[in-house]
Amino acid sequence: MRIDVFTLVPHAFAWLTEQRPIAAVLGSELELRLFNYRDTTPLRAGQVDDEPYGGGAGMVLRVDVVAAALEAVYGGAPSHPVVALSPQGRPLTQAVVEELAAEPELTLLSARFEGFDARIVERLATDAISIGPYVLSNGDLPAMVVLDAVARRLPGALAEGSGELESFSEELGGGLEYPHYTRPPDFHGWTVPDVLLSGDHAKIEAWRREHVR
Ligand SMILES: C[S@@+](CC[C@H](N)C(=O)[O-])C[C@H]1O[C@@H](n2cnc3c(N)ncnc32)[C@H](O)[C@@H]1O
Repeated sequence: MRIDVFTLVPHAFAWLTEQRPIAAVLGSELELRLFNYRDTTPLRAGQVDDEPYGGGAGMVLRVDVVAAALEAVYGGAPSHPVVALSPQGRPLTQAVVEELAAEPELTLLSARFEGFDARIVERLATDAISIGPYVLSNGDLPAMVVLDAVARRLPGALAEGSGELESFSEELGGGLEYPHYTRPPDFHGWTVPDVLLSGDHAKIEAWRREHVR
C-alpha cells in the first residue's frame, strides 16, 4: 500500500515512522511519502493560506495551493481516495480503517488554522474523515492516527494473530476485548481470575468470550 500525506510539517512524521507498526511495514507492505504544500505552491514566498472571504479570524488553506500539490505529484486528479482530515468529516471507526487499509493507494490532506477552503473538500478530496468530535490545531495528528490504524492492518505489522482478536474486530462481534492480566497473580490482594491460571484452554476461552463487552 502507498500512503501520501500532504502537510506543512513533514518532519513531524519522523517519530511515527520509527515506531511499530509503521516501522515494521515501511519499505515492504507500506510506502509512505510526505509532501509539503510549500514546495509546490504557485504563490510567492511559500504562501499557502489566506484570509477568509467575509472576514473573521484565522487563515484558510488555499484551493490553488492544494491543486498545485496534487498536480505536481499525480499530474492531475488521482484515481485513488483523497481524504481531507477534518472535524466535519465522517467519523473514523474500525470499519473505516478496514476500508482504507484495503486500498492500494491513499492520499491524506492535512490543514491548519481555520482549515480548508471548502472547494478543497468538495472538489479535490473524495472523502473527509474526522478522528473525533473535538477540534485539534492541525490535521497532522489526525493523519498520524489514520496512518497508525491503517498500518497495523497490513500484513507483517503485528505479531501473528495479535490483530485479529481486538476491540471492534469482527471476531469479537465488534465488541470490546476481554480483560488481560499478567504477573504477578496477586498484587496487594488484587488477584487474577483463577480460570486464567488454570491452564484449561476451553475454560479460558469460555471466560474470555463471556467478558467481551
Ligand atoms: C483548527 S482545525 C479547523 C477547524 C474548523 N475551523 C472547524 O471549526 O471545523 C484545523 C485543521 O485541523 C484538522 N483537524 C482538527 N480537528 C480534527 C479532527 N477532529 N479530525 C480530523 N482533522 C481535524 C483539520 O485538518 C482542520 O482543517
